[in-house]
Amino acid sequence: MRKVILWLLALFLPMTAQAVTLQADANDTYREMSDTLYGLFFEDINCAADGGLYAELLQNRSFEYENILNPQRADHYTAWRINTTPGGEARWTVAAEEPLNENNPTYLHVSVEQGKVRVMNQGFASGALKGGVTVQEGQSYDFFIYLRDRGFDGRITVALADAGGNPICEEAVLNPGVEWGKHTASFTALKDADAWLCVTIEGRGEVDMDMLSLMPAERFGKEWPGGGLRSDLVEALRGLKPAFLRFPGGCVAEGSFVRENEYNWKHTVGPVEQRRENPNTWGGMQTYGLGYYEYFCLAEELGALPLPVVHAGVLCQAREPREADYTLEETRAYAQDILDLIEFATGGEDTAWGALRAEMGHPEPFDLRYIAIGNENWGTGYFTRYGILSRAVKEKYPEITCIVAAGPVAEGALINDSWNSIRAKFADSLVDEHYYMDSMWFPEHVNRYDRYPRTTQVFLGEYAAHEPVQGSRRPNNLRAALCEAAYLTGIERNSDVVRMAAYAPLLAREGQVDWTPDLIWFNGTDVLLTPSYYVQQMFASTLGDWVVHSETDDESLFHVVTRTEDTLQVKVVNLEEKAVPLTMRLAGCADGTGRSICLCGEMKTSNSFVKPLKAVPAESSCAIADGVAETVLPACSVTIFEFPLQ
Ligand code: AHR
Repeated sequence: MRKVILWLLALFLPMTAQAVTLQADANDTYREMSDTLYGLFFEDINCAADGGLYAELLQNRSFEYENILNPQRADHYTAWRINTTPGGEARWTVAAEEPLNENNPTYLHVSVEQGKVRVMNQGFASGALKGGVTVQEGQSYDFFIYLRDRGFDGRITVALADAGGNPICEEAVLNPGVEWGKHTASFTALKDADAWLCVTIEGRGEVDMDMLSLMPAERFGKEWPGGGLRSDLVEALRGLKPAFLRFPGGCVAEGSFVRENEYNWKHTVGPVEQRRENPNTWGGMQTYGLGYYEYFCLAEELGALPLPVVHAGVLCQAREPREADYTLEETRAYAQDILDLIEFATGGEDTAWGALRAEMGHPEPFDLRYIAIGNENWGTGYFTRYGILSRAVKEKYPEITCIVAAGPVAEGALINDSWNSIRAKFADSLVDEHYYMDSMWFPEHVNRYDRYPRTTQVFLGEYAAHEPVQGSRRPNNLRAALCEAAYLTGIERNSDVVRMAAYAPLLAREGQVDWTPDLIWFNGTDVLLTPSYYVQQMFASTLGDWVVHSETDDESLFHVVTRTEDTLQVKVVNLEEKAVPLTMRLAGCADGTGRSICLCGEMKTSNSFVKPLKAVPAESSCAIADGVAETVLPACSVTIFEFPLQ
């Protein structure tokens, strides 16, 4: 009987919560907002650069592969499969004598006795045998290779191929000379395939090869020396309307364990075959084909301010054992590298580094206004070095804002100590906070920045809401996205303090995951946008100029009201499982129709490659008359309204 009563009650209980009123007067503004609030943090994690945004389809194209996380797996043949056809006889080795150049020290030496040898690259596939160069029928691909004839008599061809080495495009014939030389070809795929790049050597004698490259003919920034970027991912970034682009890390910028692993910007510029590869802190290699030049160009293309992060002479403090910090003398000498980077970005063509930038294709200076020195660093050793390095920058470039790290946590002694040091010594720096917290932490801390002194300037360089792990991953679900949205209402209210904020990490290749959750996922052909992506996009594309006082008669909704010259933005997040009738009393708005955009659904909803559109924002209109607009906020939703002002 009791069960029946409960069942009847549940049936008739309203799925709609109490009505709520939100009030604001568009003319009652109290804070100016930051016009650089929403930006991006790009790091080569989860194959974000190599195997991702960088258009190169081959992995380990230069036979330099090392593995800093697992040195036993440092295999120069990674992603390569080399074999002879039946009856063939050949030997091969990764050699280092007389390399292509000193920054590209190893190459493949092949010696054929008879028959054919096939040298095949599987791209960024994760499986051992499955090809990973996803090619599409009718699409064209640009290829190049460096070859050297060491006494070879025979025929060398190259093509896209299936796993058996059978071409799936017209083969190109290559004729090497006795010196290293670059050979190019273009392929058009005859079918969709997970392909291999296959170089076939048939005959007798010896030949060397190095620095192979395969890129889709249609790509972004094709004219850049690195070769260009994957267009669909560039468009996904553009969709976020970023005001800044932080790069290259993250831990990648600091380097791990040994100094050699630091990110040395000078190794990432100039002709692509002369860039010195470096093991990636997250595994694999950084080819630097997406190097500092390409980064500055990308930022410019996206309309984003570049925000480079350089190391502070302190290796990643989260990874031990690590080599000692730079001595103070070494730190003073290293300051020149940072000044050189600024010169590379902004110097005239009459400066050494400005001339290199011009030679690479961009005579005009880039709009560099910020530089971050250090990533997730803390402690006296770091702050001493930050002092030396930021002083050197300030002396030569007083107009550049330096960014100081406050460490890797949101709360506790470490960040409090960091803030004490920063307030005492670096009050003019922008302060880089990072935190990854449980989803519910975000709405619970929506008022975090209310208590910060208004003179403080924060750069929230990395954050994301983390759901409990399911299987091996933290899901990118709607709950995480809505908790981030709730938090962003607090960030917007405090954007006189929080000048910039970036979700992290930005990109992840399916099958090559180092970290979850991530904002944008991709595979060989598709791009998958997460609910968190849509939240970032919704907030970034409705950024106001001033914060407007607003209040509700219910504490459970998260909200912020902002305005520009002619539009009022109302952002409301409903984390409850019930719809909420909402009356908005908005003085100063014109009668007519506003626009609303809403992301809602079940909290556990995630998008997937199979069902990519489960959680996407929907647009509609909302009438307003005499300053009153009525609506119903769906359960589990973020809604942004825009109303024209009188
Ligand atoms: O975003 C992933 C990593 O998180 C970054 O490299 C590092 O700064 C932080 O710990």
